[in-house]
Amino acid sequence: MSYETILVEQRDAVTLITLNRPQALNALNSQVLKDLTQAFAAYDADPSQRCAVLTGSGEKAFAAGADIKEMVDKDAADFFLEDFFSGWQSGVVGTRKPWIAAVAGFALGGGCELAMMADFIIAADTAKFGQPEIKLGVAPGMGGSQRLTRAVGKAKAMEMCLTGRMMDATEAERASLVSRVVPAADLVEEALKAAALIASMPPMAAMVNKEMVNLAFETGLAQSIQIERRLFQILAATEDKKEGMTAFVEKRPGVWKGR
Ligand code: HXC
Repeated sequence: MSYETILVEQRDAVTLITLNRPQALNALNSQVLKDLTQAFAAYDADPSQRCAVLTGSGEKAFAAGADIKEMVDKDAADFFLEDFFSGWQSGVVGTRKPWIAAVAGFALGGGCELAMMADFIIAADTAKFGQPEIKLGVAPGMGGSQRLTRAVGKAKAMEMCLTGRMMDATEAERASLVSRVVPAADLVEEALKAAALIASMPPMAAMVNKEMVNLAFETGLAQSIQIERRLFQILAATEDKKEGMTAFVEKRPGVWKGR
């Protein structure tokens, strides 16, 4: 399948998705959302694919934000009636299988918000994260004010949203916005390596682990600990649980059935 604004390739069990509007610093317009929605749905539906990596084309940007040129003439009623940005939740955040954002260069506004939709972010040493929407007279609209605050805490999130200040890769790692920083030249290979490792795990367990960690952001502690226990008990009924534990006892690698 070919897309207008992204490139998609499969490397064994890993899907690599590349934002491909380098002339606009990969700004996120409606077509990008449409393409990503289809690509993530195809990834989720393909049993041969077990992890995905999303990255930007060009060295300069992961994505420099929602497409300002697409938004400049819209008024409040347009945004409301289209429920603008709601598609990101269903089309991207709703992905059930794990995926990693590999960020080099600018991840600004919607670009930062898109990276934060990933299960985790690996950053190049060139990465710069920011929520500069205030300079345009607006505010984050794709979950950024909430996800950034949960990731880095109130002080840094508030400063970034109120001043538009960018955070470099070192600060982003220190603040737990990204899981680690790698040299820019190695970014995609490092992300693919991490994805291959995830892809080698029992796939249902990967999906359940993802759901469990996300629960921490969506539910109260007592309730999420109970849901964690129930999900653990469901996983215990899979053939891969039996295989995983038997393989450990027999000192051999597991062979996964995916159920
Ligand atoms: C549309 C964009 C864009 C964007 C860059 N471009 N960002 N187009 N939407 N968000 C385009 C530029 O217009 C230009 O194309 C080309 O990409 C290269 O950008 P330059 O500005 O020439 O590059 P440079 O001088 O290196 O500056 C890089 C930059 C700057 C600092 C990243 O481009 C910038 O500030 N971009 C906007 C960042 C931003 O404000 N993001 C948040 C958007 S709002 P042309 O053809 O013109 O030369 C958002 C959520 C909004 O994300 C929610 C509200 C409801």
